[in-house]
Amino acid sequence: MYNARPVCIGIVILVVLLTAPFWVGLFGKNYTETGVQTPTNHEACVEDADFMRAQHMRLLNEWRDQALRNENRTYVAKDGKKWEISLQNTCMKCHTSYKDFCEKCHISNSVSPYCWSCHIIPTEGK
Ligand code: HEC
Ligand code: HEC
Ligand code: HEC
Repeated sequence: MYNARPVCIGIVILVVLLTAPFWVGLFGKNYTETGVQTPTNHEACVEDADFMRAQHMRLLNEWRDQALRNENRTYVAKDGKKWEISLQNTCMKCHTSYKDFCEKCHISNSVSPYCWSCHIIPTEGK
């Protein structure tokens, strides 16, 4: 008679192998782990990283509305810090590479903001 133990281990290995594409999909494309390069100068983002990750699109919309409708060019963050409302002069000053940061994450999440038909696509950081 065979031993149950190796059989169980065998089944576990088989299940893991068969479901591998699922696990790779789950972790490899994790929204929070897309291999984006965040700035290494350690200056904090406008808002904390969790907020930015989830809300940057809404923040940018709010910025645009503030700038265009209210002519307000100053954003006051939750911590009271003031920022110039500008995609180019604020966001892209720290996130210098659109390609390695914004775009990398957008591609892995299948989003393509249409912003750059008007705004200048930032080229590689100096
Ligand atoms: C003063 C520099 C600075 C500015 C200005 C800045 N960021 Fe950031 N940003 C950072 C840093 C540093 C991190 C990484 C924070 C961390 O991991 O704790 C970050 C993180 C992020 C993240 C999350 C990345 C991830 O790992 O999920 C997004 C999205 C983001 N920023 C978008 C923006 C947008 C959009 C703007 C303009 C509204 C902006 N940032 C302005 C420095 C900046
Ligand atoms: C960590 C991943 C990540 C990074 C980094 C990131 N984004 Fe995004 N972005 C997303 C995801 C995911 C969505 C779609 C979310 C949704 O629809 O709710 C999105 C949506 C957007 C949208 C709205 C697009 C639409 O069609 O609604 C804009 C604008 C945007 N991002 C700009 C930026 C800019 C500018 C940067 C770089 C400064 C950046 N993002 C960096 C993940 C990221
Ligand atoms: C049809 C052209 C057009 C498109 C598309 C467009 N914008 Fe703009 N945007 C403008 C113009 C024009 C201004 C005003 C510039 C100024 O007054 O300095 C502006 C201003 C802004 C501002 C505030 C000022 C600044 O310099 O950053 C933000 C933030 C902004 N847009 C974000 C976005 C985002 C995010 C997208 C994509 C979801 C987008 N825009 C798509 C034309 C466009």
